[in-house]
Amino acid sequence: MSQKPTVSPLALPHLKELHAYQPGFQPKEEGWVKLNTNENPYPPSPCVEEAIRATMGDTIRLYPDPTSSELREEIASLHGLRSENVIVGNGSDDILNLLTRAFSTLSETAGFTSPSYSLYPVLCGIQNSGTIQIPFSRSMALPIADIESCDANILFLTSPNAPTGVGFSNDVLRSVLRGFKGIVVVDEAYADFAKENAIELLEVSPNLVITRTLSKSYALAGLRVGYGLAASDIVEALDRVRDSYNVNRLSQAGGLAAVRDRSYMKAIVQKICRTRDFYFEELKSLGWFTYESQANMLFAEPMNARGEVGPEVALGLFEYLKSKKILVRYFPGHALTASFLRISVGDEDQMLKLSETIEQWLKNA
Ligand SMILES: Cc1ncc(COP(=O)(O)O)c(C=O)c1O
Repeated sequence: MSQKPTVSPLALPHLKELHAYQPGFQPKEEGWVKLNTNENPYPPSPCVEEAIRATMGDTIRLYPDPTSSELREEIASLHGLRSENVIVGNGSDDILNLLTRAFSTLSETAGFTSPSYSLYPVLCGIQNSGTIQIPFSRSMALPIADIESCDANILFLTSPNAPTGVGFSNDVLRSVLRGFKGIVVVDEAYADFAKENAIELLEVSPNLVITRTLSKSYALAGLRVGYGLAASDIVEALDRVRDSYNVNRLSQAGGLAAVRDRSYMKAIVQKICRTRDFYFEELKSLGWFTYESQANMLFAEPMNARGEVGPEVALGLFEYLKSKKILVRYFPGHALTASFLRISVGDEDQMLKLSETIEQWLKNA
């Protein structure tokens, strides 16, 4: 029988209460329809493999460029910024971690909306920083007044939000940036799937940080590349707390090739958005409430054949899909998520298999 792991008695006291981040299940064997971690169903640009193979030669014995300078420059020119406005990380999680380290403590608190990306409270827990949770209502509109009155030193917002896929307009973000005096992090992990993004606000907002990832739209979750965009004094603070070699050689080379082949990324994103919008209509035709999504996920409230919704129904469908080797994500720990399932948008075949399996569930449940 496996024993619950214990924390060393010498570890810092706050770590005894800490729950590590729970990543979505990654099955080891083949044959699953994997719609649980918002990965891209399509392969990355072929240029990525080429670049990684070329790097595998003699240079792999050497340390990587500590600042990922070429990638910073490419990302800067992509967004019309300067390289001192860019920091590259081992996934955008790395950047979120650096932000928490640089801008929050017990007294300099961190705020985040809830429900949202569940890594933020974990990072705050590691840092032992004070936290302020700003609750959404079921509408999932951004609670601007609560944000303005919150006196956190740093605030994490996800737009489009996870797990709902709801995007916040730049007009809404502008009023947050005007009203909130600390650092505002807009986590744009899903921005390439959205109608709008906050890049233009960087010029007028010295307290704005945008984080992006190559894990979703560029189909590179396994490579671990993300980045942050901000005023140069914020980037300088993050560089001071960063690991010296935080992005390895292969990831820098692959990331650079991916960003340079932007038209490939746009083509696969377009396919995913088409599938998402088609599937959204399909869920609506079942009578299921689903948030309008600007990301590569749909957050839907399943309804059984008797017209019932709720946590039992959502859990029942989650388990049924799992028994048919389809993985989606269920978040039972929050009143606003417990009746919903988050479905990553897969390719057309995967979504068809999902539809057929839901039909069987509706007949059998
Ligand atoms: C909102 C949000 N931010 C960041 C990430 C992590 O991205 P990365 O793979 O770049 O660490 C995710 C991953 O699911 C996410 O949902």
